[in-house]
Amino acid sequence: MCDYGHFDNVKKEYVITKPLTPRPWINYISNTRLGAFISQGAGGLSWFYQPVTRRISRYDFMGLPEDRPGFYIYIRESDGTYWNPSFQPCQRHLEKWECRHGMGYTRFIAEHNGIAAELIFFVPWNDDVLVWDLTLTNNRDNDEELFIANYLEFSLFEFYKEILGWVVLRNQIRFRYDSRVNSIKYDYFVFEAEHTNPVFLSTSGIPSGYECSRSAFIGRGRSTSNPIAIEKGEMSNSELLGGGLGIGSFAHTVTLKSHGTHRIVWTLGASETWDIADRIAVKYQNLRTVGKAFAELKEKWTATSDGFQTELPDDEMQSIVNVWNPYGTCATFFRDRDISSELPGLSDGIRFRDAMQNCISMCHLKPDIAKKRLELLLKHQKSDGSTLDSFLPGSKVKVSHEQPRCDNPVWSPISVYAYLAETADYDFLDKVLPYYDEGKSSVYEHLMQGLKQIAQDSGDNGLPLLKGRDWDDHLSVFSEEGAESVMTAQNWCYAARLMKKICLLRSKEEDALWIDEQIKRYRQALNGPAWDGEWYRQVLFRNGKIPLGSKKRRENKIYINTQAWAVISGTAIKGRDILCMDKMREYLNTDYGIKFLWPPYTGIPEPKDPLVSNGPGIGENGGIFIQANCWAIMAETIMGRGNRAYEYYRQILPPVISRKMGPDVYLNEPYIFSSHIIANPDPRRGMANLSWLTGAVNWMYLIATQHILGITPTLKGLRIHPCIPSSWGGFRIKRKFRGALYDIKVINKNKSNKPIITINGALIENALLPLLSEGEKAQVKVLL
Ligand code: GLC
Repeated sequence: MCDYGHFDNVKKEYVITKPLTPRPWINYISNTRLGAFISQGAGGLSWFYQPVTRRISRYDFMGLPEDRPGFYIYIRESDGTYWNPSFQPCQRHLEKWECRHGMGYTRFIAEHNGIAAELIFFVPWNDDVLVWDLTLTNNRDNDEELFIANYLEFSLFEFYKEILGWVVLRNQIRFRYDSRVNSIKYDYFVFEAEHTNPVFLSTSGIPSGYECSRSAFIGRGRSTSNPIAIEKGEMSNSELLGGGLGIGSFAHTVTLKSHGTHRIVWTLGASETWDIADRIAVKYQNLRTVGKAFAELKEKWTATSDGFQTELPDDEMQSIVNVWNPYGTCATFFRDRDISSELPGLSDGIRFRDAMQNCISMCHLKPDIAKKRLELLLKHQKSDGSTLDSFLPGSKVKVSHEQPRCDNPVWSPISVYAYLAETADYDFLDKVLPYYDEGKSSVYEHLMQGLKQIAQDSGDNGLPLLKGRDWDDHLSVFSEEGAESVMTAQNWCYAARLMKKICLLRSKEEDALWIDEQIKRYRQALNGPAWDGEWYRQVLFRNGKIPLGSKKRRENKIYINTQAWAVISGTAIKGRDILCMDKMREYLNTDYGIKFLWPPYTGIPEPKDPLVSNGPGIGENGGIFIQANCWAIMAETIMGRGNRAYEYYRQILPPVISRKMGPDVYLNEPYIFSSHIIANPDPRRGMANLSWLTGAVNWMYLIATQHILGITPTLKGLRIHPCIPSSWGGFRIKRKFRGALYDIKVINKNKSNKPIITINGALIENALLPLLSEGEKAQVKVLL
């Protein structure tokens, strides 16, 4: 429970109870083709496939008031007062108000003066429309005459052009009303546009009027808070046949009987042809079709998260693991880092390394979709094994960075292993895919080629050349010729250990031997020049320059990542694992997360130099970077320290940290992960940045399910190895795996490290559950 809302575990919703949250608290509603984000104030925007060159509706990222415009419904009563179920933009006091974000939909429940409204936004799984489904109930003893209208601002498809505000573009678009299909139609025929697909707004029933012109709806000197069309309660039926600033608004005049109800639906849609658009518009004018599509959507999402359902002694962890983590993983998977209320959608499209990591958890949630993405990513690998940094599928917009990232291909074997372990679809390894530049080879060869490319580009100490940056983008400010990345070597050893299992599965003994040799080579370098005496360094330089992550430095003495990855990769020699993780705790841990490094840098390379990165305490410069925290938690579970792993996990769990720092300090949503939290010395200590689209979502899911709760898919089956706090009495998990259902009850008596496991009453020797047939169910008991 926080000041602004709470989880509803039965309905699997987050309920926001105060409309003025510290920032827009958003949700994604999308069927992967048509998508939107929407906040608790109904602020947001929509797109078709991607928001860079196919943006449908407008959102102002920098303007005032914040979080506008969006998807509004205005309700005007007979005495002239008007209000919105979303509270915004009119901000009229409501007797009742809730915004409920659910999986794939957002619902507003509001009441003003005895008129109750339930407004649901969703995108059906099979049709490309954003549905606004409004039900009004008159709780008064008298009938009421209502004037009800929706509002959205159409955007230029191409956001690059839109932000130029180039006036000529307004002459190359058109908005018209087509009475045949009761739709406002938006044609975009801007010179050299990449996409010109039809966009429409349609409505159920017979509207009393419409507006396509923004100025006709809003009026002079007014805003969405007091539009003239609503104030007057009438529409002028404007069209913009020669162009202009277009909106979509349909009004309905309704006499709402005392204690009666009335339902109206609006649909915003996009499609490849006007024929399809017209058909879909008419289809969703039928209210039963709308209801059925909503029920199907709910089922679809329940099925997505159903494969791993828990009953835990920690309610907040349970809400996150059962609902928000799997749901958020899908959002991040589909949108990568492109659009949110904090990201304007001008960025990178799909980033190779981020997208590859996002596949890991997706392989469990939606293996088919993950497989397609794996193929797409591997097609962006070059024949020398390196990869593009980023690309925007379905667009000619070029987004790749100048400066390379040396770690990109290292993530591929980790994700492909996750896919194989979940599905046993080993033929995938033989699938032949083209390289981005020339030639083609099997998936297996793509993976080996990536590992080889990193292994051959070594520096003087035998570690991978940094070349610009490794996983830590901000290392680019320290990058120089010959610099070597300690973390990439560790990432490599972890990935290669998984790859070795794949090699042996495919009887590629030579490749397995090569991997062993490289790991040995890296292990020596990691425990030689990369060891600082009490912890592992981060970047090594030539010519005697002090490494990053060395206690000899004035700043950047110790980093989180190379300690966690020393353990995860299994490269730390005995004793150093515990030492480096304990030093990490000593120097970096706070009660709201583990800092990325200490002390943060204040200038490059000297304090007198201008800072060309995040300020001290922010993001990679000593902030609490949640993704890196995940790896620290993972490392603790590998060392078997369940209490510490859980402490680290819980201290960064969004509902916990939001409460601890205070929601007005933390600012972001308490139901979804943020990328990082600002730490001291920044005075905004405790403030979260960049929610939803962060690698943290994928890794936190993985860590919770596979490392703390300890149900891990392997090539041979499910391995059970929970690493939980000693205070837990136990927990229960229902895990679907390769078509079967394992109902797992764990009882914690804190007896031994080796769990005693029975399946349907029969004791099993090791921690590997036997494979079951499709549709089979098994009762598993685990005694710790
Ligand atoms: C962001 C980037 C990711 C990078 C990380 C650390 O999450 O999207 O690519 O690895 O920051 O710099």
